[in-house]
Amino acid sequence: MGEATLYNDHFQNYKSYQIPKAQLIIADIPYNIGEDAYGSNPMWYEGGDNKNGESKLAGKQFFNTDNDFRVSEFLHFCTKMLIKEPKEPGKAPCMIVFCEFEQQFELIQKAPKYGLNRYINLVFRKNYSAQVLKSNMCVVGNCEYAVLLYRDKLPKFNNDGRMVMNCMDWVRDSTTPKIHPTQKPVPLLERLITIFTDKGDVVIDPCAGSGTTLYAAKKQGRRAYGFEIDKSFYQAANDKILSLPTQRGLF
Ligand SMILES: C[S@@+](CC[C@H](N)C(=O)[O-])C[C@H]1O[C@@H](n2cnc3c(N)ncnc32)[C@H](O)[C@@H]1O
Repeated sequence: MGEATLYNDHFQNYKSYQIPKAQLIIADIPYNIGEDAYGSNPMWYEGGDNKNGESKLAGKQFFNTDNDFRVSEFLHFCTKMLIKEPKEPGKAPCMIVFCEFEQQFELIQKAPKYGLNRYINLVFRKNYSAQVLKSNMCVVGNCEYAVLLYRDKLPKFNNDGRMVMNCMDWVRDSTTPKIHPTQKPVPLLERLITIFTDKGDVVIDPCAGSGTTLYAAKKQGRRAYGFEIDKSFYQAANDKILSLPTQRGLF
């Protein structure tokens, strides 16, 4: 049976909570895009339509917490909270960091200082692009990026003996309530969690936002822990996402 616990705190305070070490850390780190946070989001315009002019979100940052995020502190947390490298093959932990395109380079460059020596880049292909609203662009982005980091041994990997391509489809999530501007789709998170963990394993999301990672992990019978500093997201995550049923047909 899965479980999920979200703390309304900075992940840097993790020692107070004595949470178990993780097989998988999934994080969607603040993009540090400052005042252009909605630059590739229809919400930049009133009603999502550029004919209506700019909305109050134009030129605004997503959260006032964005400016404080430090990749080094984040990697320090991850290296402390991932389980130790096991002796046997096929059981090693890993982390998946969703990030902005340029942040991948900072992560890849800094990770070895924290013992995370190896990486695989992941690309998620959407069948739409919010950037089409920007009339001066002829090539528009339709991808999300993530870096999978691990120490030395290949991570635990469950896919019935089949490979996984590093470019995956971004599965739209039409059922989970939308409470966060950068909310990740639950079906995609469920897929990643089932590939890199087994039932009963611990999954941690240090920047949990709406709590989607925790919910996906709980649905898949994993034990999930997360941190979110913004009180309103923390509250909405608990009230609207983590309280959702985890088995179809029960309600
Ligand atoms: C990109 S969002 C994550 C969205 C999430 N993946 C989802 O599906 O809803 C990053 C979140 O990290 C939070 N955050 C930033 N710094 C943090 C910290 N030091 N500790 C905990 N949360 C933090 C922000 O408030 C923000 O909600």
